Amino acid sequence: MLEAQPIAEPQIVPRHIAIIMDGNGRWARKRRLPRVEGHRRGADAVRRTGEICKELGVSCLTLFAFSSENWNRPAAEVDDLMGLLRHYLRREIGELERNGIRLSVIGDRTRLPQDIIDLIDEAEFRTQSNSVMRLTIAVSYGAQDEIVRATREIAAAHARGELSLDEIDEQAFASRLYTADIPDPDLIIRTSGEQRLSNFMLWQAAYAELLFVDTYWPDFDKSALLTAIAEYNARERRYGARPAR
Ligand code: FPP
Repeated sequence: MLEAQPIAEPQIVPRHIAIIMDGNGRWARKRRLPRVEGHRRGADAVRRTGEICKELGVSCLTLFAFSSENWNRPAAEVDDLMGLLRHYLRREIGELERNGIRLSVIGDRTRLPQDIIDLIDEAEFRTQSNSVMRLTIAVSYGAQDEIVRATREIAAAHARGELSLDEIDEQAFASRLYTADIPDPDLIIRTSGEQRLSNFMLWQAAYAELLFVDTYWPDFDKSALLTAIAEYNARERRYGARPAR
């Protein structure tokens, strides 16, 4: 497990941090609390992490809140998670608007309850001109589904004669992903000790630094984030080029 270290030297703050928030259930079990309590504390960590990232000058923060596979959880837990998302959106819209944060939600929103879709539309509309930080929440999101959707769009554009085979390149593909208007993540953090991407940002992760930390998501705090940023700074990103001498 990474230990929190005070930051001695100026650090490069990653432009885009993406987080797979994991371990709410284990956090609750360790305390003999119901799983929903872990998710509640997870929602507190969402607010806290947003504030810290804004304070540190992170441009984009993306949080994986609910995967396309999470629909297979027991209905009561899905309801709890939707309830927390509803509560978060209702409570935070004004705050995000005032703090200059632009909120986007990515994923298959057609599967969400209509009132949540309406709240998302309202939050995205009210914060669309904000530019201090971009907060993206992935809900009902799966990267393979995102890639299949982009492929279908490309095939349709090709069939209509709008896109030749030669024009199908990385840019044509990236511009059809949910993340078309944000940079790829520089740093992807997964909490709770699991070391997988679990269908999160598979295309966008091409050059991201991956960091797996043991902390359960509800315990993720400023010290954990600063430690992650220090680890990111200790790595050398080469994008396939030779190391600098
Ligand atoms: C993983 O923990 C976490 C989730 C499936 C949901 C993440 C949700 C939140 C942080 C709260 C609501 C979100 C917002 C945006 C308000 P797990 O249940 O898989 O934990 P476990 O692996 O320890 O069982």
